[in-house]
Amino acid sequence: MTLASPKLEPALPSATGPLSSTVLDLLACRPPQRAFSLVALPVAEVDPYGLDLHLALYICYEMHYRGFAGVDPRWEWNPELLALRSQLEDVFLEAVRLDVGEIAADEHAEAEMDALCVEPVDGTGPSYYLRDEGTWEQMREYFAHRSLYHLKEGDPHAWVIPRLTGQAKASFVAIEFDEYGGGHGDRVHQQLFADLMDAAGLDASYLGYLDAVPAESLAVVNLMSMFGLHRELRAAAIGHFAATEITSPPGSRRLVEALQRMDAPDACVHFYAEHVEADAVHEQVVRVDVVADLVAAEPHLDRDVVFGIRARDLVEDRLAAHMMGCWADGRSSLRRPLS
Ligand SMILES: [Fe+2]
Ligand SMILES: [Fe+2]
Repeated sequence: MTLASPKLEPALPSATGPLSSTVLDLLACRPPQRAFSLVALPVAEVDPYGLDLHLALYICYEMHYRGFAGVDPRWEWNPELLALRSQLEDVFLEAVRLDVGEIAADEHAEAEMDALCVEPVDGTGPSYYLRDEGTWEQMREYFAHRSLYHLKEGDPHAWVIPRLTGQAKASFVAIEFDEYGGGHGDRVHQQLFADLMDAAGLDASYLGYLDAVPAESLAVVNLMSMFGLHRELRAAAIGHFAATEITSPPGSRRLVEALQRMDAPDACVHFYAEHVEADAVHEQVVRVDVVADLVAAEPHLDRDVVFGIRARDLVEDRLAAHMMGCWADGRSSLRRPLS
């Protein structure tokens, strides 16, 4: 079996505008130990879904995961960087709240999850397109977009563990145990995805495509990190997690079919086949034992779960529209096309 080994600390990406260059300039220095100056970012006119904002935010969040090679790890809790991060988060979260819209008092997580279980007969989007007519090159681009998440799969949601109690906590951890390979390093889903990347002739290293993916792919992961890192948003993180598990089996099945049609390497098929099976079980556990238990214990969190589900939909739809738009125009959906 291939055991592609993702590098531990990734390299810093290149700046794409004033926001990301401010963050990168800061990280190039040693963190000040006592002095604290507040840097005001030019966020007034910024696109809340734009590349510069999402790259800057991604870099800030990454300090809580693996950090970057050559960057002082003490930046993680530096108040100057945290103050920058919160300015970026405010812009993003406000836009997401606005676009998700009001959640009515009679809208509940249970009905929202039921709706997610119903697959549209005439579905559209990358997994349908790749199954029916997409090329292997487009599939490889899809892998590159998804590598940001799958190479840290499980991690953004794991921040929620200390913020849960009782059955919800026990069942959440049971699902995460599977994501983390059930005690086997070679079965950690992050590793399975690294094996997929390797088999597809792509860079399997952690954040290997940070400089290549568009804002839409960064926003997908930034949303999870934001939900996971804020206790206030823990129910949104659970909603996001539930939606991920519920929608995974049918989407993964389409990708298995796509990869079989393309005669792709076994490691590529294996990653998605694993998710068809495992997530069918996870779907039930997350609905009944995680979400229902959490909402029964803390009913005021019900609407936040709904918000998390709808916010995920929003950023996933933006990424899907980006890929489909680029492919319809016959161009690469990456900032740096694959060689
Ligand atoms: Fe997984
Ligand atoms: Fe899962």
